[in-house]
Order: sequence, then structure tokens, then C-alpha cells
Amino acid sequence: MNETSLFDQLEFTENPVYEGIISDLQERQYSVCDGFFDLEEVSELRESLHRKHVLSQFKKAAIGSKTNEIVERTVRGDFIFWLNEAEADPSENRFFRKINELTNYLNRTCFMGILHKEFHYAIYPAKTFYKRHLDTFQNDDRRKLSFVCYLNEDWNAKNGGELVLYPQKDGTENVVEILPLAGRVVIFESQVLEHEVKPVLACERLSITGWFKTR
Ligand code: OGA
Ligand code: MN
Repeated sequence: MNETSLFDQLEFTENPVYEGIISDLQERQYSVCDGFFDLEEVSELRESLHRKHVLSQFKKAAIGSKTNEIVERTVRGDFIFWLNEAEADPSENRFFRKINELTNYLNRTCFMGILHKEFHYAIYPAKTFYKRHLDTFQNDDRRKLSFVCYLNEDWNAKNGGELVLYPQKDGTENVVEILPLAGRVVIFESQVLEHEVKPVLACERLSITGWFKTR
């Protein structure tokens, strides 16, 4: 008999970028991946964000789960627009293709069991911030990985707006400051990693933020 299992028939090529993200997550709860999106992809996504923004489709971000929202300006000051994959424009489709490829890779190699995803554009106007927090809600622990992709053109360190991560290692807390540079993606464990967005001092800070969720 010449039996081959389904797994032998499926071609599997290791993806070095995704492997880097996985080993970072295993070692230190977060990964910073520059060039996850190239500058052309970033500028097209930025244009899509602006098209929605001029149509006033953004709303003040709230805290709490989608069904239990409180608008709280002393905690977070960004404006958001939830992306709908079924209504995506061409640049957003390219975005979701990469996201889905990463999802499939994580499910296949790490058995992460990601079943749902949610993503929103975010605009932080000057003087806004997001205080230190965890990306999980009291009544919903399905968020496993947080994902942020920055859409800023030529972000200057003087503009502030750093993402600060507080990873724990052997009982001590570290502080990692990350600038929101174009095409840079940060992925981290939603349930354990506290983080904040430092005040934006000048310019608008643009991003897509999302979560990979289990059932
Ligand atoms: C969030 C968040 C980080 C960032 O939206 O929950 O923490 O760098 N965003 O925008
Ligand atoms: Mn967060």
C-alpha cells in the first residue's frame, strides 16, 4: 500500500519572519517586527484610514468590552474605526491576507486555536495617550495576542507616542519603549503584558490595532 497522510501532501515551508515572532513570544512575551508591511502597503493603508476619517466614521474609543463601553478620556484619548473584512478595500484586503496567513501559521505550528480576529484603525491626536493597561476584560478572556501596526510617515522621536511594554522576567519588571515607526508591527501576549501609549506631543499617531482570539 502506498499511503501518504494528509500532512505529507500539504506543502509546508517555514517562514523565517513568523518563526522569529514565535520565538520572541516564547522568550519574552512580545515581538517587534520591522518591515512586516512594506512602505507601499503602509501608505495605502494610511490613505484608507484618511478616507474613513474625512467621512467622520471614527468614534471616540471607549474602555471595557464592545458591549460594555465607557468613554473615559482620562484613560485613553484615541479615536477608532473597526475594520470589517467583508467590506475591505484593496489595501485592507492585502492587510487581511497577511493577517490570515499569520493566523494559519500560528494555528498550525503552535496550535494556538485562533478562531476570531478583530482590528481597528486608531488615531491619537496630539496630547492624547492610553494609560497603562492589559488588553483583557473582566468578562471576556478570549484575546490571546495583541497586534499593533504603525502607519505613521516619518515619525520623529520628538513626537512622543511611544508604546511602552512592561514585560516580567524572573519576578522583575522591565521597561521597553517602542517608537511607532511605519511598517513596524508589535505583537504581544494580551493576558499578561501590561503596556501604555505615552502622550503624543505633536502630529497625529496612526495605527491598526487588533487581537487574535480563541473561541
Ligand atoms: C490598545 C493599545 C498600543 C499602541 O489599543 O489597546 O494598547 O501602540 N495600543 O497603539
Ligand atoms: Mn492595549
